[in-house]
Amino acid sequence: MVSNSAKSLLLCLMISVLHQHLQFQLPHVVAIKTKSEGKDDGRGKTLSFTLYQQETINKTGYIVVDGVAGAGVSQTTTPFGTVYVFRDDLTVHADKASRVAGVAEGTSITTSLDGLQSMSLAKITIHHKGHRGSVSVLGGTYNTKPSDYPVVGGTGDFAYALGYVRSSPVNLIGQTVTYKMELHLYWPPYAHDAPVPKKP
Ligand SMILES: *[C@@H]1O[C@H](CO)[C@@H](O)[C@H](O)[C@H]1NC(C)=O
Repeated sequence: MVSNSAKSLLLCLMISVLHQHLQFQLPHVVAIKTKSEGKDDGRGKTLSFTLYQQETINKTGYIVVDGVAGAGVSQTTTPFGTVYVFRDDLTVHADKASRVAGVAEGTSITTSLDGLQSMSLAKITIHHKGHRGSVSVLGGTYNTKPSDYPVVGGTGDFAYALGYVRSSPVNLIGQTVTYKMELHLYWPPYAHDAPVPKKP
């Protein structure tokens, strides 16, 4: 027969073990592993998917600072020094009317005199195929060609993600411009043991 105080001690122990177990088992890396189309072969986990960025000039993206030299404003060029800010929906298909699975918010600064190149930074927030979180990218854009942006990190299910995002123009004609956005994410093995911030 176990005494009451021994019972409650045992209960306390069980709760604290359970608590620790939950704290260490809940992080994103474990969650993703069970429900993603990615894979983990022991050298890290990968995850890839494609979304479509829908941008409408003067509606989801604006020039907020005029450039100072070089090419003029056209469908594909902006003057050197132009600062452009956008907040574009990400859809699951190229069709603008397809389901919205995220948003890309960021800015581009024109850094070439021919007006075709810029430095871009963006936070890509995703709620897609059971994954929720954001990926941040920073890199160069060539307006009329595919651009690869290094992933500098992420939040939520994408915490500690690395890899790259390839953005390719699909349609540059008209008011709404569509970009194919291919996300290729990679978690090095050490990401498995990294701390994950609790919800603030
Ligand atoms: C966007 O707005 C600016 C400022 O009002 C205007 O000069 C420009 O022509 C507009 N661009 C388009 C594509 O409508």
